[in-house]
Amino acid sequence: MKSDFYTYDDNPIFHLAIPVDNILNAREFYTSVLGCDVGRESSKWVDLNFFGHQLVIHLVNDRLRGESEFNEVDGHKVPASHFGIILSWDNFSSLERHLLSNNIKFTLEPYLRFEGQPGEQRTMFIKDPSDNHIEFKSFRNIDMVFATDLDEKIVEN
Ligand SMILES: [Fe+2]
Repeated sequence: MKSDFYTYDDNPIFHLAIPVDNILNAREFYTSVLGCDVGRESSKWVDLNFFGHQLVIHLVNDRLRGESEFNEVDGHKVPASHFGIILSWDNFSSLERHLLSNNIKFTLEPYLRFEGQPGEQRTMFIKDPSDNHIEFKSFRNIDMVFATDLDEKIVEN
């Protein structure tokens, strides 16, 4: 049983702060490439509206930043540290076209997972100028986001 504070109906907003080693380059990337609006900001940090969620880029000394580690998922090397957003099927395609037309390099090219199965989904990875990995996903059926049976075959009646 969930506690009183654990509700979905007030649409809680996710907050994430990430390190960047050049605040202006990162600000440019998130505003120009991903269309984020800017909230409060200083020379050391910038609040961004990332698809309705609060993303903060924080300036760090690059000596403190670690290398990404990768894990194998479906034969793809997926960066262990990443964040992102789950979009509608159409918006995923729109963003894919936008990234392609702006010559944004994919860390992982758009691909389809669980094709023809209940958990069918698309995913693609890019990274910001400070090598923070960003994943965009979309589920054919949004109800499958937290399902555990993504790969079961659909049984036709
Ligand atoms: Fe992921």
